[in-house]
Amino acid sequence: MFNTRWKVFIFLALCYRISHGEELDKKKLQKEAYDMFMHGYNSYMNYAFPADELMPLSCKGRIRGVTPSRGDVDDVLGNFSVTLLDSLDTLVVMNELDEFEKAIDLVIKHVRFDSDHVVSVFETNIRVLGGLISAHVLAELVKEKYPNRLTTYDNQLLKMATEVGNRLLPAFNTTSGLPFSRINLKHGMQDHLKRQKDTCTACGGTMILEFAALTSLTGDPIYEKKARKAMDFLWQQRHRSSDLMGTVLNVHSGDWTRRESGIGAGIDSYYEYTLKAYILLGDESYLDRFNKHYEAIKRYINKGPIFVDVHMHRPTVATRGFMDSLLAFWPGLQVLKGDVKEAIEMHEMLFQVIQKHKFLPEAFTHDFQVHWAEHPIRPEFVESTYFLYRATKDPHYLHVAKQIMDSINKYVKVPCGFAALKDIRTMVKEDQMESFVLSETFKYLYMIFTDPEDLMFDPDHYVLTTEAHFLPLSIGHKEKIENKINPRRMILRADEPQQKNYVCANPIDFTKLPTEREEAQLIRERTKIMLGELRNGASAGGAAPGNMICESPADRIRAWAFSSSNQEHVKQLVMMGIELITLSDGRLHLSHKSVNAASPLYARWGMEFMEEMQHYVEQLDKSGGTPEHTQQFVQILNRPYYGKPYLRGSAAQFGRDIAATKALVGRAAKTIPFRACDKILNADQVVGKIAVVERSDCVFQDKARFVQQAGAIGMVVIDHESNSQYVGDRPTFSMAVDKDGKDDIGIPSIFLFRAEGDHLLRSLKMHSETVISISSHHLSIENTIGRLLRYGKMFKFPEYPQCSLRDGDIILHNLDYPEVILNLRFNGINQDSDPRLHQEIVERHVTELQKYLEFKDADYAFQFYEFFRTAAYGALDLNVENSKLLTVISALSTLKTKPIPPSVFARLPGEITKVRCIPRGEEMPCVRLST
Ligand SMILES: *[C@@H]1O[C@H](CO)[C@@H](O)[C@H](O)[C@H]1NC(C)=O
Ligand SMILES: *[C@@H]1O[C@H](CO)[C@@H](O)[C@H](O)[C@H]1NC(C)=O
Repeated sequence: MFNTRWKVFIFLALCYRISHGEELDKKKLQKEAYDMFMHGYNSYMNYAFPADELMPLSCKGRIRGVTPSRGDVDDVLGNFSVTLLDSLDTLVVMNELDEFEKAIDLVIKHVRFDSDHVVSVFETNIRVLGGLISAHVLAELVKEKYPNRLTTYDNQLLKMATEVGNRLLPAFNTTSGLPFSRINLKHGMQDHLKRQKDTCTACGGTMILEFAALTSLTGDPIYEKKARKAMDFLWQQRHRSSDLMGTVLNVHSGDWTRRESGIGAGIDSYYEYTLKAYILLGDESYLDRFNKHYEAIKRYINKGPIFVDVHMHRPTVATRGFMDSLLAFWPGLQVLKGDVKEAIEMHEMLFQVIQKHKFLPEAFTHDFQVHWAEHPIRPEFVESTYFLYRATKDPHYLHVAKQIMDSINKYVKVPCGFAALKDIRTMVKEDQMESFVLSETFKYLYMIFTDPEDLMFDPDHYVLTTEAHFLPLSIGHKEKIENKINPRRMILRADEPQQKNYVCANPIDFTKLPTEREEAQLIRERTKIMLGELRNGASAGGAAPGNMICESPADRIRAWAFSSSNQEHVKQLVMMGIELITLSDGRLHLSHKSVNAASPLYARWGMEFMEEMQHYVEQLDKSGGTPEHTQQFVQILNRPYYGKPYLRGSAAQFGRDIAATKALVGRAAKTIPFRACDKILNADQVVGKIAVVERSDCVFQDKARFVQQAGAIGMVVIDHESNSQYVGDRPTFSMAVDKDGKDDIGIPSIFLFRAEGDHLLRSLKMHSETVISISSHHLSIENTIGRLLRYGKMFKFPEYPQCSLRDGDIILHNLDYPEVILNLRFNGINQDSDPRLHQEIVERHVTELQKYLEFKDADYAFQFYEFFRTAAYGALDLNVENSKLLTVISALSTLKTKPIPPSVFARLPGEITKVRCIPRGEEMPCVRLST
């Protein structure tokens, strides 16, 4: 995809950054957020109260049964002044205590819950019940702090909350325990309501926080019991192999009516409440469930910064080509989960959409076109911005929040409040202001600009519900809190890989967060670039991201593996837009046209294949001639270098030739000992990386053998002479072959003179991750970044391609080099063990692998397992013959892998024996790596 457009985009991405030059005045912005809230609140109170909602264009209240009906949307309105109930706790956040007292009086006097209206159980729970409980909790707090305030307050709000809870309870009377989606406030489950069959996952799965709080505050177990039963039932209904949820299901049978699975509308807050139920209640079963779902979402739905809805039962198949705006809450939840880096990435994606359209449209395509153009001033993106700012203290998020606030002021503020947008492209407004604008959007904006110490209460001692209402953590497991056994806080410690570490989530210590600002900036830049690449592909009519990742064809055919008699190979060439003509003298002629390719991805592959083939043919022509000193380049790819300057050096005359594979990219690591004339002591830091060593003390090939043994994928040798430097056009020196040395080196090596080498050493010293490429033509800057991108997540470099199994799994393979890593587990069986035990342990591996590896046909499978057996017996120090490279590669090129469940490792116990197979000539020998 490195076409002209791509280049232009890169240029922009590097030069265009939001200027963070100006220091923002948080106090001023806090005041602005406060003014905005008060404008909305006062407009509602002046023009609409006691109606449920404000109509900001006509400056009056929306009254159900009087104002023309909008259909289901009106199920939010229960003639219970929902906007006021939803806004009460925001008054406390903004320290408007006089108004808070006044508002509570009004609520007690005027609000009733017995109107003859059918309302949404879900909305009534999160806006009304949640609003009342939160206001009650904060009222108690205010009373305690200021004894002359709220003197007549005597749990009235809690009593009202209990009434609402009781009115909702009959909805839970279904076979499954999932609540019906709608109920009549006055008459309960009327017959026609009992005929409702379907409900959404989020609808049934967003009750537990409010209901558990109600149980805790009233002492009546019924509420938590009912909500918990609904959660348990939903968990039961997940797809058992994908762990994903669908969107809509039958309240009685639990059968899925809509099996689309995403993280947005219809599902969103079920996931949110699964994690937050753990945070509030300390019950680990919720955390386990969340972690299962979270893994599944990362595996199937999250494709880089993009989220793709899939079928829950066929999770590799995408169901729709757009994302809806509700999923913008996800980065906030990721912060709570501790996945800050991923949160930064997704937030940046959303911010890109917002910069393009000024607001987040209700839905947008994967290439960021507007799909549904409305924008009701939703809070989700601001909510995520709040959590990211709390977790990172990165001023970037203040700027983001300010930008949102500026747009709201500029485009949606009207004399009587704030009006939703009907179409963000034209900024045409709608006569609507949802209660969440006051209860969430402005609350989060205000809290972003307010230091937690300046709030009346510590927000980290509360769980914020999906409607941004505060539930105190003291609700969960009271006895434990008192014994200080399980101190949970709202924000968990960030970036901890092990779920067990969450059991006692520690108080936040922001100074220790591993996500540094610079890295965060880098993540955002990378996200922008990646999105540019995606957009490019998509606007060329390309494949949806769902098809681009981990979908067949598994991999591009490699030049050296290509055989014109293999029909599969020829077919892929055609897909890539390559025409193949056999000339009369038997030679093949290949020509490539991108427009003939089946998709942009194939077109890119075609280009790469042609380049690779050209190098390959050149190498073949060259071999046999006298070795000349080939110039090569080392480039440091990470920030701030981005490939500049490039360091000239010379290729070694031994080991693998890089020209054929274009470039070797990997992290660099210095070896201990630096001269690498002995076993490498820091093999754990060198494995999978490009080893950086110093010349002298032993021959070059010995160094290469030691670093190869340590698992390095390449080697840079730096001259030990202190003032040597590369001069002239061609290298004057290259690392020669040791006369009687064996040809046993499979990794490529490059020599740098001291002046060039010092550049690299400086970067290694200054940056914890130095990523370099070694190639025979230095890469232009766009190519450099492209290469970083193809390595997927920067700084989490898979040394192996994304679609292979993960480290620690049994097999990892990389067709780019090509190389295979096997992680075998022999459980004490070694060279000296009984031969039958050898056979048994190797076959046990094969048996397990067969369940998770899939080949195109039995021949390929057979070839692969023969190769596997050879490698395994070799690792047990038995004498084996090397496998044939071509056979291994063609088998691997049809390999598809499924994740291997941990249970397999119970059947294959023992320490990992790492085996690495890399090509040498036409063979694929394997060596056991020292660890
Ligand atoms: C709405 O609530 C008010 C105050 O509780 C009540 O007087 C009125 O009858 C209710 N309207 C309907 C349609 O139920
Ligand atoms: C639950 O529903 C059944 C069947 O509709 C009904 O007989 C029963 O009385 C209901 N129970 C409650 C507590 O509403």
